[in-house]
Parts: sequence; C-alpha cells; structure tokens
Amino acid sequence: MRVDIVTIFPSFFDVLDLSLLGKARAQGLFELGVHDLRDYTHDRHRTVDDTPYGGGAGMVMKPEPWGEALDVILADSPAVEEGNEPGAEQPLIIFPSPAGHVFTQATARRYANERHIVFGCGRYEGIDQRVFDYAATRARVELVSLGDYVLNGGEVAVMAMIEAFGRLIPGVVGNPLSLVEESHEDGLLEYPSYTKPAAWRGFEVPEVLLSGHHGKVAEWRKEQQIERTRRVRPDLLPEELR
Ligand code: ADE
Repeated sequence: MRVDIVTIFPSFFDVLDLSLLGKARAQGLFELGVHDLRDYTHDRHRTVDDTPYGGGAGMVMKPEPWGEALDVILADSPAVEEGNEPGAEQPLIIFPSPAGHVFTQATARRYANERHIVFGCGRYEGIDQRVFDYAATRARVELVSLGDYVLNGGEVAVMAMIEAFGRLIPGVVGNPLSLVEESHEDGLLEYPSYTKPAAWRGFEVPEVLLSGHHGKVAEWRKEQQIERTRRVRPDLLPEELR
C-alpha cells in the first residue's frame, strides 16, 4: 500500500519511522510520502492561507497549493473516464475533519485494503471548498472525523488512522491471531489480560485462567467482554444484551 500525506508540518510524521509501521516500511509492506504544502507555494512567505470570503473569524487554506500538490501526487493514478465517477482504480483521498463521518474499526478494515491513500491535513478554519470539489474529479474523496471534538488540525487524526489501519495490513502484525481477540473486532470491548506472577501486591489472577480448561477460559472471557461493554459502552451491545 502507498500512503501520501499533505501537511504544513511534515516533521510531525517522523515517528512513522518507528515501531511496527517503521518495520513495515523497511519490509516494503507500506510506502510513505510526506509532502510539505508550502513547497507548492510561489511567494516569498510561502503563504497557504487567506481571509474568508463573506467574512468571519480565522483563515482559510488557499486552493492553489493544494491543487498543485494533489496534481503531483496523483500524476501516476489512472485518469477518470469522461462521464464517470472516480472508482476503485483511483486513489482514496481522505480529509480529516470534524464535519466528516466518524472513523471506526470498520473504516480501518476498509482502508487496510486500499492500494493508494492520500491524506490532506487541513489547518486554520478549513480548506477552500473547491479543493474537495476538484479532488473529487480525480479520486474518491472522504471527510473523516476521529470523534465529536475539535483538533487544531488533521495531523493527529491522520496518525491515529494510520496506526489503526496500518496494523491491519497483512504481514504488519507478526501474529495475525492477536488482531482477532481485541476490542471492537467482534463488536465488544476486550477482556482483561494477566501474566505471571499469579499473585502480585495482594491482587490475584482469576482462578479460571490458571485452570488450563480452555472451554471455561473462553466462556469467562466472553462474560467479561459482555460485562465490560455493558458497563462502559452499552451503545455497542445488541438490544437483548444491554
Ligand atoms: N480536524 C479537526 N478536528 C478533527 C476531528 N475531530 N477529527 C478529524 N480531523 C479533525
């Protein structure tokens, strides 16, 4: 998979050299391009924003640098045929935005199967609407929100999304079974985990986990998942389990 990121803070993504995703990049499972939006400006101050038409507080990101950056990144992507909408053969461009659809584990699973994802990180009060309109003529476009709160820009949201789908790319996580038994994969929160020693500072590992009885362990874990989900996130449970 290839991922391109357009941002005014390229060094923000240096951390992608580390850890699981750094290793995945070294193995060629995941290719990354980080692009400084200011490289596509032509004035001395490398200006990327301007005041909003119609007035109002804050600044809006100008369309021209975005257009040039997207043209460079999409140069090798298949052209959209006359009269057609962009389809699966075109890249997916994601703009993180509190006005987007909420990102979930299902979104992460979908992104893990893409060939080419482009992230556009907005700052200030937003990006000129025509950037989205233009992008939609070249690729599939999605606005995606991390949740119902406002960040200063898209960078943190992009990091979170890359962490979430990157680990689902086949081969990135060493033991794929560890992906199966975690929160949200079966629609429930995960069960509590324990390792040695069996007793620590007066806290004991639940007896059933020491029993070696796989059936009972599985049953206990499922109960724990349901109990925890009911307590913390009842909205995730089907009606009859709430
Ligand atoms: N940019 C600003 N706030 C955001 C949010 N909640 N999710 C994604 N991108 C954002």
